[in-house]
Amino acid sequence: MEAYNGFARVYDYLMRDVNYDKWADYIENIFKKFNLRPNTILELACGTGNITNRLALRGYEITGVDISSEMLTIARKKAMDLGINVAYINQDMRELDIHEKVDCVLCLCDGFNYILEERDLISIYEKVYSILNFGGIFIFDISSFYKISEILGNNTYAENFEDISYIWENYFDAEREVCEFDLTIFMRKGQLFERVQEFHEQRAYRTDVVIDLLKQVKFKDINVYNAFTFESPKFTDERINFVCIK
Ligand SMILES: C[S@@+](CC[C@H](N)C(=O)[O-])C[C@H]1O[C@@H](n2cnc3c(N)ncnc32)[C@H](O)[C@@H]1O
Repeated sequence: MEAYNGFARVYDYLMRDVNYDKWADYIENIFKKFNLRPNTILELACGTGNITNRLALRGYEITGVDISSEMLTIARKKAMDLGINVAYINQDMRELDIHEKVDCVLCLCDGFNYILEERDLISIYEKVYSILNFGGIFIFDISSFYKISEILGNNTYAENFEDISYIWENYFDAEREVCEFDLTIFMRKGQLFERVQEFHEQRAYRTDVVIDLLKQVKFKDINVYNAFTFESPKFTDERINFVCIK
């Protein structure tokens, strides 16, 4: 059962309350804070292109990478409808094969929580470091250890709409520090509902561990914020945003 397969068809509906314009504003505010105006951006785990397409519309030359071809099909369609040119590449970021250097690398909305092994995370950071131009900026967020272990973990969520219903059953494996998500989605198909089942796993990373991995990769200027602000994160903050300069 692959993640973000059937789920891709409902992803944008389930994320409809996320303010992606504000998210894109936050990214540009980070550029301003660090006195940068990147031209070229690579976005890892770009999903259905919600941020990718917005940044393309704002004039950046951006490439999106995602492991899910279904998510990318939706991203490409949205780019086409907007009349913008975005390169979408179907790749597992653990085997990132990009050779052109860029001014900025992004990975937003939990992308790195899907990387379950620290050795894979550090090898992605190494690759990011190598493809960034000097002075380039690496911005990413994670769902915090607190959110994954205490809020999502061992909890069940369900919503019931006219055309879509879902049940989201979570189990936090404290030994692996991984949350297992069992997702059952029902999507209307005429008079009937199609049932889609997916299994996702997200690793709960502690902020200190991530900082340590980034330092091992030679990133020197590492800044950590409670996401959407420039304040230091507290343990109970749910999204932690990292900004690193090469
Ligand atoms: C929560 S979605 C975030 C999508 C997008 N960044 C957004 O803000 O809406 C997580 C994304 O990570 C992608 N992903 C998970 N593991 C990946 C991997 N190893 N390589 C590339 N993409 C991955 C999934 O396919 C999915 O599109």
